[in-house]
Amino acid sequence: MTFTTEPILLAIESSCDDTSAAVLKGREVLSNVVQTQLIHENFGGVVPELASREHQQYIVAVVDKALAMANIEKKELDAIAYTRGPGLLGSLLVGASFAKSLALALDIPLIDVNHMQAHILAHFIHDPQKTQPNFPFLSLTVSGGHTQLVMVTDFFDLTLLGETLDDAVGECFDKSAKLLGFDYPGGPQIDKRAQVGNSSAFDFGLPKVDALNFSFSGLKTGISTVIQKGILSDPHFIEKNRNDLCASIQGAILKILENKLLKAVQQTGIKEIVLSGGVAANSGLRNRLKELSAIHQLTIHLPPFEYCTDNAAMIGVVGVLKYQNGLVTSDGVSADARYDLTNL
Ligand code: KG4
Ligand code: ZN
Repeated sequence: MTFTTEPILLAIESSCDDTSAAVLKGREVLSNVVQTQLIHENFGGVVPELASREHQQYIVAVVDKALAMANIEKKELDAIAYTRGPGLLGSLLVGASFAKSLALALDIPLIDVNHMQAHILAHFIHDPQKTQPNFPFLSLTVSGGHTQLVMVTDFFDLTLLGETLDDAVGECFDKSAKLLGFDYPGGPQIDKRAQVGNSSAFDFGLPKVDALNFSFSGLKTGISTVIQKGILSDPHFIEKNRNDLCASIQGAILKILENKLLKAVQQTGIKEIVLSGGVAANSGLRNRLKELSAIHQLTIHLPPFEYCTDNAAMIGVVGVLKYQNGLVTSDGVSADARYDLTNL
């Protein structure tokens, strides 16, 4: 097998409710197709069994579309990367099995990728509009399934400094949004309404959590209590206060994130910060980090919107970096729902 320095690579992401395929040439993205599963909208969250069935239904068409958009034929591919985990096992297995069979049929290397590493290293996708982070840096990784503070000293050397002890930040956005009557995923809806609401209108209390860990379940209970009491005194409480509720919920979430991020900066002395994961699309969080960068002399890297929520391009860039470093997978490696950052 010959290894080129700028491989043409197909990447597949299927860890949750987005079926995605991307084609990269080196770190340049030639195509990035994301098919979001709408079936979960009315359930208030992702239904794992439905998600894996939807992946099965979409994956062939999504891969074909990504290849067509990149104008690349299967025989031109140098490698295939897929999400090994963490994520929903049934969903991961669809992508992993597809990637393995195709790599075997084409006789090209297969590369397994950690989804959380990929959210972070999405910042290294070739983009002339953006400066790349310098090592070492801290990542505040905020998604629907995870909330992590990670110290990154190299592409493959990531140390978890803290994480959520219960709900993830995206989950907190989505569960709060459900209480307000929004469909899943409600994070973007809260973001939109928060822009025209008053963030000091409601006080839900903030958690006290040790070290660099996070907790969001207490906040969720606080929000639920305020809403229940409000409805008891006025059945139209939510309609009348929706924007202020959204702004206050988002304000509380941002405060929790900000406190821990600044604590991590203080403890490590690292002032280079990247924001990663689906919640990185939140406009309030992006603006707040820009403000913090001025106050605390931090260098902040915000991901482009298309690489915030789950996408295969981020899996692809890790695939390319692993390929270039000879880190290809044996066929024995399979989906791992709890794959963490210790063994990349
Ligand atoms: O990274 P991601 O696509 O999936 C996981 O790996 O979990 O993140 C999805 C999460 C959802 O909870 C969604 O509500 C949240 O990201 N999200 C947002 C925004 N856009 C997506 N939350 C707040 N504001 C947004 N603009
Ligand atoms: Zn994700």
